[in-house]
Amino acid sequence: MTTENRIATIAVLGALDEEIDLLARHLSDVKNVKEAGLTVTTGTVVTNRGNTVRVVATVAGMGTVAAAAATQHLITKYSPVAVLFSGIAGSLNKDLHIDDVVLGGTLRYLDSDMELISASNPEVKEYHSDPRLIRIAEQALEEQGTKYIIGVIASGNHFVAGDELTASVKEQTGADAVEMEGAAVLHVALKNKVPALVIRALSDNADTEYESFRHFDISRFADTASELVLAILKRM
Ligand code: ADE
Repeated sequence: MTTENRIATIAVLGALDEEIDLLARHLSDVKNVKEAGLTVTTGTVVTNRGNTVRVVATVAGMGTVAAAAATQHLITKYSPVAVLFSGIAGSLNKDLHIDDVVLGGTLRYLDSDMELISASNPEVKEYHSDPRLIRIAEQALEEQGTKYIIGVIASGNHFVAGDELTASVKEQTGADAVEMEGAAVLHVALKNKVPALVIRALSDNADTEYESFRHFDISRFADTASELVLAILKRM
């Protein structure tokens, strides 16, 4: 991914501070700037092959609009060669366990009329992580021995908890996991023709109301996703 004479930039987004913390701690030459309503952290990582990649990371905030705005900002300002989303998700798949990883093979919006949305560029009804980035992530996950699937992830603008809501999400999207940003990140990346990958570590079984969930320490699961981002960067 490193281009001749120029350091390649990789953009990394999370929705919450915990989803970016571990990565930020592992960067060298770190600078923080405030722009476009975001704090953007830049730094470098030395890859296993001894190349340097520049990382530009930010916490977008929750929801599809915040994710879309932050993704577009990073692409426009920093011209990354790839966009990675690192975060947690609720599990909808009984074969998966907390802290397993779902790579976003397919991302689908919740509660959305995709006939209308797909009438505009990029004219698709669902979004896919880049196969080359998925392959790099799989190699890293296999080396770590982390259980993962390449699955379907649903993105919507509300937290999902309880039998009725999970049944509705599964019926609408067939998803293995649910979160609030991934489809928007891939949507904007595709509009800009930038390869992107959504990484989600499972933090819950979509059975806990947000009022309780927000008091949980999610850093262990957020770190699982962030560690994978670092391992991917090292493989570039
Ligand atoms: N992120 C983590 N868990 C979630 C859930 N249950 N619903 C939506 N987003 C989530």
